[in-house]
This record gives sequence, C-alpha cells and structure tokens, in this order.
Amino acid sequence: MTRKIDIFDTTLRDGEQSPGASMNTEEKLIVAQQLLRMHVDVIEAGFPISSPGDFRSVQEIGRLAGDDAVVVGLTRAVDKDIDRAAEALSCAKRPRIHTGLGVSPQHLADKLRISEDECVERAIRCVRYAKRYVEDVQFYAEDAGRADQGFLERVIQAVIEAGATVVNIPDTTGYQMPAAFGARIKGLCDNVRGIENVTIAVHTHNDLGMATALALAGVENGATQIECTINGLGERAGNTALEEVVMALRMHGDELDGHTDVVTQELTRASRLVSRITGMQVQANKAIVGANAFAHSSGIHQDGVLKSRGTYEIIDPADVGAAGSEIILSARSGHAALRHRLSELGYNFPESEFDDVYQRFLEIADQKKEVFDEDLESMVQERQRDVTAIYALESVQVVCGDAAIPTATVHITDEVGGEHVVACTGTGPVDAAYKAIDKVVSVHGDLQEFAVKAITRGIDAIGEVTVRIAAGDGRLYTGRGSDTDIVVSSAKAYVNAINRMIQTTRSKQGK
Ligand code: KIV
Ligand code: ZN
Repeated sequence: MTRKIDIFDTTLRDGEQSPGASMNTEEKLIVAQQLLRMHVDVIEAGFPISSPGDFRSVQEIGRLAGDDAVVVGLTRAVDKDIDRAAEALSCAKRPRIHTGLGVSPQHLADKLRISEDECVERAIRCVRYAKRYVEDVQFYAEDAGRADQGFLERVIQAVIEAGATVVNIPDTTGYQMPAAFGARIKGLCDNVRGIENVTIAVHTHNDLGMATALALAGVENGATQIECTINGLGERAGNTALEEVVMALRMHGDELDGHTDVVTQELTRASRLVSRITGMQVQANKAIVGANAFAHSSGIHQDGVLKSRGTYEIIDPADVGAAGSEIILSARSGHAALRHRLSELGYNFPESEFDDVYQRFLEIADQKKEVFDEDLESMVQERQRDVTAIYALESVQVVCGDAAIPTATVHITDEVGGEHVVACTGTGPVDAAYKAIDKVVSVHGDLQEFAVKAITRGIDAIGEVTVRIAAGDGRLYTGRGSDTDIVVSSAKAYVNAINRMIQTTRSKQGK
C-alpha cells in the first residue's frame, strides 16, 4: 500500500487571493460543500483577521465540515491573528491554526527586518501561542524555496520542538526547480530531528509553470501533504492545481509512493463551479479540466481515438467526471471522424455517396472553425432535398455595397450536363442573383415569401433561407438553402424551389 497523501485545499484562501477571484461567505460555503463531496482532507477556509467576511467563512465552514475534514484558519505570527483564528475555529470539530513567517534572506531583511535569531524566536512563539488554543498547529516557513537550507532546517527543528504538527515548506515565489526543491525536502528529512513524527506539507506556486512538478518532487522526497487549489487559482500565476496532482498521483502512485482519497469523478464539476463563482475562466487547454482536455481535432488523432481511445488519451474522461472524448469536426477532420459523427446522429451513407458528403463537409469546414451537429444536420437535409436536382447552383458571386450597383453572377449546371454562367443587376444582391437564375431556368416563379434564420451558433453561423414561390397556376413551392453566406443560401433556396416546381409539373405530365 502506498502512502496516503493529504490534499489540503486552499482555493478559499490562497485561491481567493487571485486578483478578481474574491468570493462572499455564501459562495465559499458552496465551494466548501463541493470540496467535502470530493473528500479533500483539509480545507483552508480563510484568513480570519483579514475581514469579518473571512472570519465568518472560517466559522461557517468549520460548522459545515464536522468530522469530514480539517478546517484551517491562516494567521501571521502575531498573537491577535491567532486569537481571531482560534475564535473563528471554535465551533470546528477538527480545527487547525496555520501560522508562520518568512524565512528567506529577502523576507528577513526587506519585509520583516529581523535577524535569523529573531525569526526563530517568533516562529517558536507563534506555534506555542497557537497550541494554547488547538492541538493541530501547522507552521509555514514562507519563501522556504529561497531560504538558506541550514537556516530552514533550524527553523523547522525549532517549531517541531515547539509542538507543530504539520510543517509547511512553501515555494512562495515559484522560484525553485523540481529536483532542487525535492532535495530541500530530503535535506529536512535527513537533518531535522523528530520530523518523522510530523506531516511535511508542500505549498508551491506556478511562477515558472512548475507548481505541479514541484509539489510532486516534494512528495517523492518525503512530503505527505500537498497544498493546492481548484483550477490552480492563487496569487500571481497561481498555486498547484488540485486536479493535476490528484490525477498524477492516481496515474503514477506507485512511482511516487502515494495515493489520495479524492473522488476524481468530481473534479470537472469542482472546476466548473469555481470558475462560475469566481468568474475566472479556465483556459481551454488546461490539463484535466480544460474544455479541450479530451477534444481531438486533427484527422490522424481522431482516427486513432475512434479506433481505440487510449491511442491519444491517458485519462478516461469519466474518471474526472468529464462528458467524454470529443471529436471536434473541422477542416482537419478525416473521413473516419465525419462518418462516426454522422452515424451517431443517425445518418449512414453508402460508400458510393460518402465522398460527396465529405466534400460538402469540407466546404462548410473551410468557412467555419468548427462544424457543429446543427451544421451537419442542415448539410444532410440540404443533400436529401437536392438528390433529384434538375438545376444545380455551382457558385454565386455578388458585388454590392452602398456605392455599387448590386450585380450577381451565377454558375448553374443542368441535368443534361449544360453549363450556364449569367450575370444580372438588381435592387440588391439577392434580387440580382434571382434575376440571373431566372435567366437560366426554363420557368419562372413569383417570390411570395422569403425568410432567413441562423441555424447554428456563432458569428460564423449557417443561415438557412426559406422561400416560397408561386407558379403560373398559383401553386406554391417551397425551397430551402443553407450556407454561411446568406446570399448563397438565398440562391440555393430559390434554385431548390424551382427544381420542385419543375419536378411537380413533370410528374403531373407523367414525364
Ligand atoms: O505562498 C505562501 O507562502 C503562502 C503561505 C501563507 C503558506 O501562501
Ligand atoms: Zn501561497
């Protein structure tokens, strides 16, 4: 059995420090409920002295968690902070005070303006002071990533002797490299007496994009608590992302000698919840929870995934609560992906027709970044309507604008192989196109109705035009056409109505 790695979630404290990510108490309670549903071990609920709102959040989350998680209040190494945290945690069943101060030369000289000896004294004092209130006291050695290793070991030795139950080694500025950070944790394990009796925590930031790697290097070298946030929220470039370390431990647990109790199927829900509440969008290519994490776009990848998901996916989307692998249809998609999606939508084309379907798909895909199901539906319907086309619109080109005479040139082929290219002017581009079509076809229909609607999403949506034309005998014929260009949709709809009119006339005449 591998070691149990505690997941300490600080979304509600460090995560909330992300510019623009602040949450009120009600919102924090909703996130805390989700953290409990996920079985995180420790919830850092806030910094009680910082505001009445943070105080209340720590208090309420302490009540909510009951026995299910340790609830933590952050403090500086200052008595009044610790008093306030203890008060906020008084109703919690498993309270922990998280106290500490900076230990790097930068923090000692420039921020705290104290000597190393004074730092050790304050560290001991804050742990002892917190111990008067709670048994479980976690000490953070802020900026440990840039501290002198010998001094860091001295501070950690002192706080363990003072009664700390957890020692937190933060790389506050995200400065370290994974191997060096791992060596720091190993150095502590080798040189600090009694460290085997406390929990070693790692709290790493993402300034060099290495927060997850740093945390795992810590685990490889003796840490058994990882501090992290949903979606990697946090100061500056953020903290270690909870979903990343949890899934890395799930997949590489044997190598890392660790496992967590987190219900991984809740990760996507947690990510979306936090994103919605904080208004902080998750980047599409974010590991584990990004919108594209299980989306495949290139034809080669799509073909591979359709043959066997594992060719391009290391995680089963269901394991993180994601909807499933997604095949993004675009101009890069191949036959396999299109055939698969069409078949899921209930359209199965014989091999002899499929090439044609694929060519039409490519035409649409060339005009759109992504081809949605609605685009496919409309493509198929258009195709079904046009199988018996007498006239086929090959292309339409228009010149228009407030300083030009609207002119349309249409290229139409007919059922006997004739090619017709005609240009006309009109009151607008659609009128010009219709006049040009009229010149080619052998019949004329009076336009009675013309309606346009967007049938797919986005600025590059497909527009469907429906027209109704009246024949000489007053009968009405409906035509539909769709395209991303509304003039093209209009011309297609008109040709479609004309075709129906001719077909009906022919069948009446028994032709
Ligand atoms: O980054 C950091 O050092 C912190 C401490 C308060 C744990 O957030
Ligand atoms: Zn931090």
